[in-house]
Amino acid sequence: MDKVLIIGASGHAKVIIEVVEFNKQYKIFGLIDSFKEKGGKLMNYEILGSEDIIPNLVKQGVTKGIIAIGDNWTRYQLHAKIKKLAPDFEFVTIVHHSATISVSAKIGKGTAILAGVKINTHAQVGNFCILNTNSSFGHDCKMEDFSSIAPGVTVGGNVKIDFCTAISLGANIIQGIDIGKHSIIGAGSLIVHDVNDFKLIYGVPGKEIKTIEKGEKYISKS
Ligand SMILES: CC(C)(COP(=O)(O)OP(=O)(O)OC[C@H]1O[C@@H](n2cnc3c(N)ncnc32)[C@H](O)[C@@H]1OP(=O)(O)O)[C@@H](O)C(=O)NCCC(=O)NCCS
Repeated sequence: MDKVLIIGASGHAKVIIEVVEFNKQYKIFGLIDSFKEKGGKLMNYEILGSEDIIPNLVKQGVTKGIIAIGDNWTRYQLHAKIKKLAPDFEFVTIVHHSATISVSAKIGKGTAILAGVKINTHAQVGNFCILNTNSSFGHDCKMEDFSSIAPGVTVGGNVKIDFCTAISLGANIIQGIDIGKHSIIGAGSLIVHDVNDFKLIYGVPGKEIKTIEKGEKYISKS
């Protein structure tokens, strides 16, 4: 089994660890986290240090991993840093055994597909995305890199979700909608109109609340 690093050591990392353990495709070498104390443990795996040690680990033959951080913009920034530090480091895709994925769907590298997810015919999921527990992604949908759908989200057919956009817990998006980049759809929303870039939208039906900046926070604790 190839060794992998789990990059991140919070709640989302715990979920990813369980999927990796169950799948037995990779062996977890350790965790990388710049905010937690080196030598500390999460689910019996050691926090080896910050991302700065990845080039050394690559030299030792640990060349793969996944960024297990729920926040899209943080995941993007960390990916950019690791790409600079260790250009050959390879990001793996993690799929929970209970996910149902159409044979015609495409899933990018570094993406996490969690328990009970359904991905329908000809859907395309980019790199470094998260499809969280029991979310459903309709036929012919497209999700660009670093975006996410939270637990219980339902996305109808032919929906496009642009770069680094978060669809929060339990939101529903009707068919054929385009959602711009760096936007946030609030928990429980019903989206019936297209959404521009850099917007916070919530409600039933979803209404524009405000224009937001890149990296606006939407998960306070994870
Ligand atoms: C969109 C979101 C980030 C807004 O958070 P926020 O800006 O901190 O909003 P606040 O909590 O300050 O609430 C401001 C007001 O908006 C309302 N509001 C906030 N989110 C709302 C939502 N999703 N739908 C309807 N109303 C909402 C609040 O009730 C509050 O109204 P009030 O002042 O009358 O009480 C938050 O609702 C959300 O969806 N977070 C993501 C949850 C998630 O998916 N987590 C992932 C787990 S894996």
